Amino acid sequence: MNSLKDTFRLRNGIQIPCIGFGTWQTPDGRVAEESVRFAIEKGYRHIDTAAIYENEKSVGIGIKNSNVPRKELFITSKVWNTEKGYDTTLRAFDKTLSDLGLDYLDLYLIHWPAIGNDGEKYNKETWRAFERLYEEKRIKAIGVSNFKPHHLEALMKTAKEIPMVNQIEFHPGQMQKETVDFCRKHEILIEAWSPLGTGRLLANPELSEIASHYNKSVALLCIRWCLQNNVLPLPKSVTPSRIEENTAAFDFEITPEDMQTINSMPYIGGSGLDPDNRDF
Ligand code: A2P
Repeated sequence: MNSLKDTFRLRNGIQIPCIGFGTWQTPDGRVAEESVRFAIEKGYRHIDTAAIYENEKSVGIGIKNSNVPRKELFITSKVWNTEKGYDTTLRAFDKTLSDLGLDYLDLYLIHWPAIGNDGEKYNKETWRAFERLYEEKRIKAIGVSNFKPHHLEALMKTAKEIPMVNQIEFHPGQMQKETVDFCRKHEILIEAWSPLGTGRLLANPELSEIASHYNKSVALLCIRWCLQNNVLPLPKSVTPSRIEENTAAFDFEITPEDMQTINSMPYIGGSGLDPDNRDF
């Protein structure tokens, strides 16, 4: 990977730009509009949002104001937990498209696996709606988020299309090895949400020491580390200097020794969310 325009290739041949611009916790309104527009101006070609972020309209305005042709951009959104099911997912998709002001999505994800007694059934019905939207070419690729191997195994028993992406929390100290190994085996690309551990990793002394070997910030070290692990990072920022800084991940290479040190780090913080035990 040498630039923001370089891509990972999904199983169905779709090319996905190698760093996505995250928008979780980006406030709706001017902040989202301006940060998305600025990110695209600085070269990002991949924007990641979700219905539950409640900023899709503003993200859509930012995309439009960038004046970059739609086909040069890769836009992802996600169906929220309360919209699970066949008809509800189809309706949620229409709303997402209309809020974003787009006529297709590049990637649509089930945001969290449904859990509880009917979890498996709801995941399957949602997935059936995804397959229909994919067949109708209203989405170029379909996937999941926060799925562990047991959620994927259950879904894949009846799926016509195997998910092309699994977007999970992934950063130093939280590599979800079992999930990553399962996804690799099935050619499911891993995307990293909160590659900076929602910012909690940035003051870590060990990471700071390693970052100093390259004269880079810890944020850039984490972004580059994802890429060298063949994982697609989705760093979020609303600060222009950081949005720009996070694009400078292509002019250095982390040594195998430093990769090994980071890959072996114990848990040092993150969101604390567990897909199987959550109250939302
Ligand atoms: P902000 O949006 O205020 O600029 P993650 O992507 O892991 O969820 O992390 C996002 C958090 O990290 C946000 O609080 C964001 O702050 C902060 N952040 C993003 N990029 C950088 C950077 N290059 N340096 C310092 N903090 C950053």
